[in-house]
Parts: sequence; C-alpha cells; structure tokens
Amino acid sequence: MSEPTHTGADFYSNALETSLNNQTESILRPHSFEEFVGQEKTIERLRIMSGAARKRGEPLNHVLLSGPPGLGKTSLSFILGTEMGTNVRVTSGPVIEKASDLAGMLTNLQEGDILFIDEIHRLPKTVEEYLYSAMEDYRIDIMIDQGPNARSVRLNIPKFTLVGATTRSGLLTAPLRSRFTLQTRLDYYSSEHLLSIVKRSCDLLNIEVDTPGGLEIANRSRGTPRIANNLVYFVRDYAEEKGDGVITREIASKALELLEIDQRGLDEMDKRILSAIAETYKGGPVGLNTIAVAVGEEPDTLEEVHEPYLIQNGFLQRTPQGRIITDKGYAAVGLPAKDTAS
Ligand SMILES: Nc1ncnc2c1ncn2[C@@H]1O[C@H](COP(=O)(O)OP(=O)(O)O)[C@@H](O)[C@H]1O
Ligand SMILES: [Mg+2]
Repeated sequence: MSEPTHTGADFYSNALETSLNNQTESILRPHSFEEFVGQEKTIERLRIMSGAARKRGEPLNHVLLSGPPGLGKTSLSFILGTEMGTNVRVTSGPVIEKASDLAGMLTNLQEGDILFIDEIHRLPKTVEEYLYSAMEDYRIDIMIDQGPNARSVRLNIPKFTLVGATTRSGLLTAPLRSRFTLQTRLDYYSSEHLLSIVKRSCDLLNIEVDTPGGLEIANRSRGTPRIANNLVYFVRDYAEEKGDGVITREIASKALELLEIDQRGLDEMDKRILSAIAETYKGGPVGLNTIAVAVGEEPDTLEEVHEPYLIQNGFLQRTPQGRIITDKGYAAVGLPAKDTAS
C-alpha cells in the first residue's frame, strides 16, 4: 500500500508554526473522512460544509473542534485541508504572544488556506481581540508606534479558514466562540470504534491481531485513539518478545497488566480523583475545586479532561451539591460501596 501523504499540509519553518513531526503518530493518522473512524455527527457536519464550500469555490467557514486530548482534532484539521485542497498552517494558542505575531501569520496565508490554532483557549486575550475582525471581515487593524506617534494600520488578509482546537471550550470567550460557524465536539470512542482503529493501526504496522486481542486493547484505551495506538506499539513488542508476534487476547492482557493499565481503562489521575472522593470525602458530594486541591490538578482540567470520561462511564455523578462517587467508582479503586442505609 502506498504511503499516505498530506496533500493539503505543508510544513515550513516559521518560529510561530508548530510542526507535527511525531513520526509514529503521523503514520497512523487518518488522512481522509473515509479513514477516520467514528464521530459520525461531526464527520457528517464537516463533509457537508466542505462539500458545499468546494462546490461554491469558497473557503471553508471557520470551525471549532473541541474535546479531550487524543480524539482526533488535529487529524481532522488536516483532513479538512486535504478535502479542500488547501494548505494547513499549524500553530498553537500559547505560541502567539503578540498581535503582531498573529498579523504576520495571517498576512502570509494564501486565499483558502486553513490556519489551525491548537489550544486556542490559551491565546492571550490581547491577541484574541484581533482575531475577531480577521475572522469576520478579513482585516486586522493593528497599532504601530506608541505615545503621540501611535497610529492604527489596516491590513487586509486573504480569505482564510480558522480551525480552532480546544480541550476546554468552556474557557473560550463568547465573542470568539460565536465567530465559528460550526462548533463541534468530539466524544470518547466506543469499544467497537476503538477496535476498528486498533485493527487499522495493526494493518498499517503489519502486525497480526485477532479480534479478542484487539478488543482487549480497545477496552483499555480510555475511549481514546491515541492511547489505543500507544498500547498497540507496546503490545506488539510484548508479542514479539514473549509470543510469536501475534496479538491475541492472552498476549494483550498480559502486556497491559505489565503496564499496569487498568481493566476499565482508567488512568492514574482518574483513580486519584475517585480515591480522593471515596476516602477523603466519604463518597461526596464534594465540590470540584475541593477535589482539584486534593489531587493537585487544575479544576478546568478535571472538568474538561477527566470528569467527562468518569461520568460517561458511570464512575462519578455530577449533582447540584457536588460530585458523588458511584458503586462502580468504589469498585474501580478497590473499595466496598458505601452502605447507604447507615
Ligand atoms: N477517528 C480516528 N480514526 C483513526 N485514528 C484516529 C482517530 N482519531 C485519532 N486517531 C489517532 O489518534 C492520534 C491522535 O489524534 P489527534 O488528531 O492528534 O488528536 P487530538 O488533536 O484531538 O489530540 C492520531 O495520530 C491517530 O493516529
Ligand atoms: Mg492535537
């Protein structure tokens, strides 16, 4: 099979652009809507938008992709570039420190290009305001000089598409968010979808895997393709060293045990959160900020990265009084469920 290429992507050296040169990740990255597994709603929305824009010969409207890390936001931005036949320029919120950084990037774009801003919630507020007119009117008014010589200069920029990615859409200001025509959220993947991803990755890497073996990896990937792929690499090594190279259920299970990957796919922080609620706060209800202090993590990160998985999978409940651990949550940290009668 031929090497997939990013026809739409081009990586050129510019201090503000972040290139995606993680080799192993790029081999497994899906390159088209067809190769992208799951996320049906998001994919349908993007297909419709990109199909219509292409037919009209117009740039794609601005898109905001949100969701936890490793679910495919960066991959989708490249797929959009390929679909639209345009360049994708990659940068990230914290890298753009000044309005002039942004102006430089925008004026270097060609008509129709996609500017992908990763972690867009970390864009400094002073820079963010300049994006508004860029997104809406394709111009940017920047101040040059200071004091009595200060004056505003208007720069016209090519019609471009902003694709923003964020793990914390809640931190985006309303004016920025509302300038994205489409805001779409990626969800954790089902076992079935993760199994397809594991099988696809094994195909690409020439690894033999049977369905029970693939499923074992899928079920322990925390709903996240990036984790599934990382586990594939380790399990392959294990299969080569300890078996005959084939990923079976038994091989996968032993390899993952060696990695201390939870049967339920929970990670270290997930378990710390559950333990803190169970032990320190007697099962809850307890407020988010209190949990954050107890586990030493930012409340936003808990809310946007950890909680969604724990809640969706029934380990935790969110109530108006605070977070409550469920019986399943107790079991996950090896504690007996609280006797509610006492
Ligand atoms: N829907 C998918 N189908 C197949 N592989 C995927 C999918 N989503 C993500 N991946 C894999 O997971 C890796 C991480 O995805 P990425 O797009 O970088 O996630 P994010 O930008 O949301 O953190 C990709 O390199 C790819 O190998
Ligand atoms: Mg990414």
